[in-house]
Amino acid sequence: MTATAPETLDLQRAAREHLWLHFTRMGGDGEVPIIVRGDGCYLEDSKGKRYLDALAGLFSVNIGYGYGEEIGEAAAAQMRELPFYTNWSYAHPRAIELASEVASLAPGDLNRLFFVSGGSEAVESAWKLARQYYSARGEMRTRVARIPGQRIDPVVDYEAAEAAALSTGRRWKAISRHIAYHGTTMGALSINGIPALRIPFEPLVPDVLHVRNTNRYHRPPEETEAEFTAFLLDDLEQTIEAAGPETVAMVIMEPVQNAGGAFTPPEGYWRGVRELCDRYDILLCADEVITGFGRVGAWFGSERYDIRPDLMTIAKGLSSSYAAIGAVVASDRVMEPFMQDTSMYSHGITFGGHPVMSAIALKNIEIMKRDRIVEHVAETQDTFRQTLSQLLELPIVGDVRGTGFFYAIELVKDKETRESFDDRECETLLRDFLSPRLFERGLICRADDRGDPVIQISPPLIAGQHEFDQIVSILGDVLTEAWTRVGR
Ligand SMILES: Cc1ncc(COP(=O)(O)O)c(C=O)c1O
Repeated sequence: MTATAPETLDLQRAAREHLWLHFTRMGGDGEVPIIVRGDGCYLEDSKGKRYLDALAGLFSVNIGYGYGEEIGEAAAAQMRELPFYTNWSYAHPRAIELASEVASLAPGDLNRLFFVSGGSEAVESAWKLARQYYSARGEMRTRVARIPGQRIDPVVDYEAAEAAALSTGRRWKAISRHIAYHGTTMGALSINGIPALRIPFEPLVPDVLHVRNTNRYHRPPEETEAEFTAFLLDDLEQTIEAAGPETVAMVIMEPVQNAGGAFTPPEGYWRGVRELCDRYDILLCADEVITGFGRVGAWFGSERYDIRPDLMTIAKGLSSSYAAIGAVVASDRVMEPFMQDTSMYSHGITFGGHPVMSAIALKNIEIMKRDRIVEHVAETQDTFRQTLSQLLELPIVGDVRGTGFFYAIELVKDKETRESFDDRECETLLRDFLSPRLFERGLICRADDRGDPVIQISPPLIAGQHEFDQIVSILGDVLTEAWTRVGR
C-alpha cells in the first residue's frame, strides 16, 4: 500500500517513518528534533521551546531568520514574472544581475559566475573547470600557433607549437588539506581530507593529494609563526613536486578551515601558496562556501587575507540559505580560453542560476548592504572573541580560535600537555553527552570530532553581546559538567 499523508500529520511519527536525515544515525527510538520557526538568531521547536542558533543553520544563515517576509516578497514577485528558466544557452535578468552584483563585491578580476545549486556542486564544478581550463588553454595556444604571423610560425614550427600545446595540456589532479570538508558529491568528496567520510565510498575520483592544514595548536610550542608558515609551504611544494607539477590542475583550500576547528592562516601563508601556484602554473581555488558573505568580517576571506585566487566557490551565505544557490566565480584569466570561438565549458545543471533562487540571493545581498551586516561583524568581532575567551578559564578548554563570527573551542584532557581525548572518550563526551545537553539547554552549536574534538560556533551575523553572553553562559555550565563526567 502506498503511504498517504493524513490530514493532520503526526510529525514525529511521520519523520521517523519517512524522512531520512543527513549524516544521522537513523537507528534507535530517540525523538527527532523538529524545528518549526525562526526569528533573528533564535529557533523554536514543535513543542514551543526556543534555541539560540549559534551555528546559523549550517554556518549559513548569515542574516538570521527574521527576513522571511521581505525575501518572500522578492521570491513571489519573481514567481509571478518568471518562475523558471535555464542558464543553458539562455540568460534571464536575475541571474545577470546577481552575477554582476557578486562580481562587483568579489576581489580582483573574479568577474565571471557559473551558478549551481549548492556548495558541493560548486566544488565539483570548480575541479571540472580547472581540469578543462588546461586543455582549453592548450587548444587556444595551438590555434594561435596555427595562425600565420603569430609568435610561433605554424609552417616552420608546427611541431613546436603542438608540443607547447601538449605540454600545457591536460591536467587533472587536485590538492587540498587534511581534515578539510568540501562537500559530498563524488568529486567534492574526493577532495575532502576526512578519512571517515571518504573510506565508505572508495575508490574515489583520481587524483587528490592532501597537505597539512594550518592547525597550530598541536605544533611544537617553541615554533615561531614564520617557521610554521615555512613548514606548511615546504609540505605543499614537496607534494606538488611528488605529484608531478604538470599534472596538477588545482589547489583548493578554505581561507579559514572549518573542519578541525576554525584554523586561521599564519602570517605569509597565503602569499606563499599563491607564489607556489604561480611558480607551478596551478589554479588556486578559495573555497568560500562558509567564509564568503561576511563570516570572517569581510565580504570574502580572499579579500581579508589577500589570497588572490583564480577561482572561488560560494554557496551558503550567498542567499543566507534562504535559497539553494551557489556558484563558481572565475577570474578573467581562467575565462580567457573559454572565450575562444568554439570553446565551451562542458558542464551544466538544470537549476543553476534559477531565477527565484537568484532573486532571493539578490535580496539577501541588498539586505546585507542596507543593514551593514558585514560591517557589524568587523566592528564586533573583537568583543565576540573576548567574550568567548572567558571559556579558557575552564580546565577542559585548551584553545579558543577563529576570527570574525567563526570560532572553535578545542577540548582537551590536559591543558599542559594539550593531550586530546581518544575516540572512545570523544564518543561518550561529544555524541552521548555534549550534543544532547547543549540542545537541552537551548543552544545549538556543533560538537565535532572530525579532527581533534571541538565545539564550533558560528552564529548568524546579526548576533550581538546578548547572544555572545548567552553562548558563553550555557557553554560554561555544560563544559563544567562535562569535565566532572570525564572524571577529572
Ligand atoms: C567549505 C565547504 N565547501 C563545500 C561545502 C559543501 O556545501 P553543500 O553542503 O552546500 O553541498 C561545505 C559545506 O559545509 C563547506 O563547508
